[in-house]
Amino acid sequence: MLSKVLSATAFAAAAQAVSFTVSSSNGNATSPYQYGFMFEDINNSGDGGVYAELIQNRAFQGNAIYPSTSDYWNPLNGASIKLANLTNPVSTALPTSLQVSKGNATDTVGFSNVGFWGFPVVAGTTYKGSFWVQGGLNGNLTVCLTSNGNQQWAEAEVSVKSSATWSQYNYTLTPSQSAPNSNNTLNFTFAASDLTNSVNFNLLSLFPPTYNNRENGLRVDLMEAMAGLYPSFFRAPGGNNVEGNAPPYWWNWTQTIGPLADRPGFPGTWGYENTDGLGLIEYMLWAQDLGMEPILAVWSGLWLNNTVLTEAELQPYIQSALDELEFLMGDASTTWGAKREALGYGPFPINFVEVGNEDSLQPVGGPTYRDYRFKDFHDAIKAKYPNMTIVASFFDVAGDAPPYNAGGDFHEYAIPVQMSSQFFYFDNYTENNPILIGEYAIIDYDSPGATGPKWNAGAGRSFTPFWYGSVAEAIFLLGAERNSQKMIGAAYAPSFQNLNKWQWIPDLVEYDAYPGHTTLSTSWYMINLLSGTRITENLPVTFTEGDYNPAYFVAGRSEVTGSHIAKFAVYNSTGDVPFSMSFQGVGGYAQGNLTYITAPMNASNPIGGNVVQTHTTTVTASRNGTFAFSLPEYSIAVFEVSANQAGQGYGYGNPNNRNGWKGWNQWGNGQWGPPQNHGGWNAHGQGWGWH
Ligand SMILES: *[C@@H]1O[C@H](CO)[C@@H](O)[C@H](O)[C@H]1NC(C)=O
Ligand SMILES: *[C@@H]1O[C@H](CO)[C@@H](O)[C@H](O)[C@H]1NC(C)=O
Ligand SMILES: *[C@@H]1O[C@H](CO)[C@@H](O)[C@H](O)[C@H]1NC(C)=O
Ligand SMILES: *[C@@H]1O[C@H](CO)[C@@H](O)[C@H](O)[C@H]1NC(C)=O
Ligand SMILES: *[C@@H]1O[C@H](CO)[C@@H](O)[C@H](O)[C@H]1NC(C)=O
Ligand SMILES: *[C@@H]1O[C@H](CO)[C@@H](O)[C@H](O)[C@H]1NC(C)=O
Ligand SMILES: *[C@@H]1O[C@H](CO)[C@@H](O)[C@H](O)[C@H]1NC(C)=O
Ligand SMILES: *[C@@H]1O[C@H](CO)[C@@H](O)[C@H](O)[C@H]1NC(C)=O
Ligand SMILES: *[C@@H]1O[C@H](CO)[C@@H](O)[C@H](O)[C@H]1NC(C)=O
Ligand SMILES: *[C@@H]1O[C@H](CO)[C@@H](O)[C@H](O)[C@H]1NC(C)=O
Ligand SMILES: *[C@@H]1O[C@H](CO)[C@@H](O)[C@H](O)[C@H]1NC(C)=O
Ligand SMILES: *[C@@H]1O[C@H](CO)[C@@H](O)[C@H](O)[C@H]1NC(C)=O
Repeated sequence: MLSKVLSATAFAAAAQAVSFTVSSSNGNATSPYQYGFMFEDINNSGDGGVYAELIQNRAFQGNAIYPSTSDYWNPLNGASIKLANLTNPVSTALPTSLQVSKGNATDTVGFSNVGFWGFPVVAGTTYKGSFWVQGGLNGNLTVCLTSNGNQQWAEAEVSVKSSATWSQYNYTLTPSQSAPNSNNTLNFTFAASDLTNSVNFNLLSLFPPTYNNRENGLRVDLMEAMAGLYPSFFRAPGGNNVEGNAPPYWWNWTQTIGPLADRPGFPGTWGYENTDGLGLIEYMLWAQDLGMEPILAVWSGLWLNNTVLTEAELQPYIQSALDELEFLMGDASTTWGAKREALGYGPFPINFVEVGNEDSLQPVGGPTYRDYRFKDFHDAIKAKYPNMTIVASFFDVAGDAPPYNAGGDFHEYAIPVQMSSQFFYFDNYTENNPILIGEYAIIDYDSPGATGPKWNAGAGRSFTPFWYGSVAEAIFLLGAERNSQKMIGAAYAPSFQNLNKWQWIPDLVEYDAYPGHTTLSTSWYMINLLSGTRITENLPVTFTEGDYNPAYFVAGRSEVTGSHIAKFAVYNSTGDVPFSMSFQGVGGYAQGNLTYITAPMNASNPIGGNVVQTHTTTVTASRNGTFAFSLPEYSIAVFEVSANQAGQGYGYGNPNNRNGWKGWNQWGNGQWGPPQNHGGWNAHGQGWGWH
């Protein structure tokens, strides 16, 4: 908290003053989505990340790209462990199990799992475990959450009577003491005398409490971090992840639904096997739990190894996408809708489908996408779902337009000098279809002579977001807000980074198995501020002094709260920037709340820490309704005059001159929405979309 905004940096050189008025008419409705979330399983952010399973390699899944392995499992006290393909596996999807024999041991034997680089141990938390077992064990099995030394945090005794058929056992662990770090293992032990020959295990699982207490659910602190971004849309399941490394592997959604024992797993595109415990339904519940509109990515026939399907070969995959939509939306009278109902779920409405991911990046990608791949998916989906918004997977304002004049998914990874100059970037876009900024991030510091980032994450790129990069991102995002009538919204990427195993840096939120290490980056704080206050109608700005640069801003109002709002990013200003602003319709002595965030220019958030300072203050308008305040260099701000503080002369104004959000159910034929159709957030219902 700081109320002395002006004096805080009184000795810094003052930059050029900026004075402007915000009109009360001729506005544009903004997208109801604006800020969203992009997810794919990179940096062990699904398994070992937001998907709350704590045991690594729980079901010995494998394939030609990542063969099954007993990695992450260790024998204890002279036992021997190996993989075995039994003639009667636990399921056809999980053919390989862990076989444990006692060797020459006569005392206690067993095996342990190292977790995803350790296990969390939090006092009073109940961890729920289960495993499937078959073979010659008859006696008590002890499951123990333990340090790497001899400190036992929690223990459960499971009385096992195994036989030739598989059976499942459950247990819980409730430590009374928290571990000081994640350097813990999960040990399974039993008396050697209780074992005849060997015993087989599969689908060994351990879950902490999950967000909304969902079974097979998501990690609470990472979900809370996401909720703090106030995301309105959710692009999933990727990213490269939806593409697959090479034939025959692609993200086949049918293998990600139903009981965990029926999910074979998937060779993920970031160097490790995915369990697919985080499957299609889990993605939908995730979207629902955070009130996000799903943007469902479907595979478009291109593999990452530059292999593509011919048009004739594409048909089964188009059918699979249609089946997926029927599975999510169809009622119980449909084939796939009935399967969803049988799993216990009602429909999940889908309004956006993205065909593929970055289809122009592989040499064979762009031409085939333009020629038939996009068109065939687009036409088939539109024929059945005429209101579906179909998003192409690439887009470049400068000319790399997707086919059909479709809008597309614009991705940008850059250095600050690039993004900080992109406030006007989307101004000239005149196509009738919307832009999704599906991925953006500053990934490296500026350096002399550099015109772009280093692409190799191992070559000294910034490990975490840093403050002036986050401010550069804010300028770019305000540029997107300024053009929100042409946008769906924007999502930082990638979202999560496991500190122990990452392929791409930097990322929005860092974490590992130890809860105290979860780190909200400087860019998280930037999005938290900008996304947390939504303008539903952008209004024209008239300068009387100064211009954009070094202070960038958008202004408008919210039909939800009745507030008048301006959002700012101040970049390279060499000193405080004094503002003098007024909103038409806001009277003298009105009061506004200014919140701005700052940090040292080059600073990043350390593990578990935060360098971003939040300052809030109340600003009272002069007699003629002018608000005066200043913002420091490298700051991001939201100024809001709430409806009940607008003072004399407040009037919401006549919205009839406003253009509708271009997107609402109209994309594909490029009409502006009717004047009063302001985006659909109120028509959207059921907790989806804008919030
Ligand atoms: C199990 O079967 C798979 C698929 O045939 C094979 O690749 C793997 O080597 C087998 N594993 C063992 C331990 O026999
Ligand atoms: C068991 O003991 C025998 C004889 O000492 C030895 O040959 C064999 O390798 C041992 N087996 C294991 C699994 O340690
Ligand atoms: C559990 O297993 C680990 C090896 O994975 C070992 O270091 C630790 O001492 C064991 N804990 C107990 C209580 O036996
Ligand atoms: C085996 O575990 C059960 C709890 O599952 C416990 O009641 C019983 O006393 C244990 N038996 C032995 C021999 O430890
Ligand atoms: C174990 O827990 C799962 C999920 O909570 C449940 O479906 C299953 O019936 C339980 N199994 C046993 C043997 O209690
Ligand atoms: C984890 O345990 C290992 C083995 O005891 C030890 O070498 C390492 O320093 C420990 N790490 C932490 C963070 O305590
Ligand atoms: C892609 O992978 C498939 C399957 O491994 C292989 O047959 C094909 O030659 C690869 N294509 C390229 C261009 O590397
Ligand atoms: C997807 O997986 C299912 C289940 O394994 C399989 O039946 C189906 O053929 C696959 N879809 C395609 C298009 O290959
Ligand atoms: C498509 O949208 C229009 C206009 O909102 C609506 O009347 C129509 O019922 C929708 N069609 C489908 C198939 O949902
Ligand atoms: C937009 O078009 C105007 C007029 O052609 C041009 O001066 C300006 O540089 C363009 N802006 C961008 C961001 O391309
Ligand atoms: C409203 O949209 C039109 C058309 O894109 C654009 O020219 C105008 O600048 C926008 N006005 C505001 C306030 O965003
Ligand atoms: C800020 O402006 C100065 C003077 O033009 C320039 O030397 C410096 O590189 C700029 N800093 C950034 C981060 O753009």
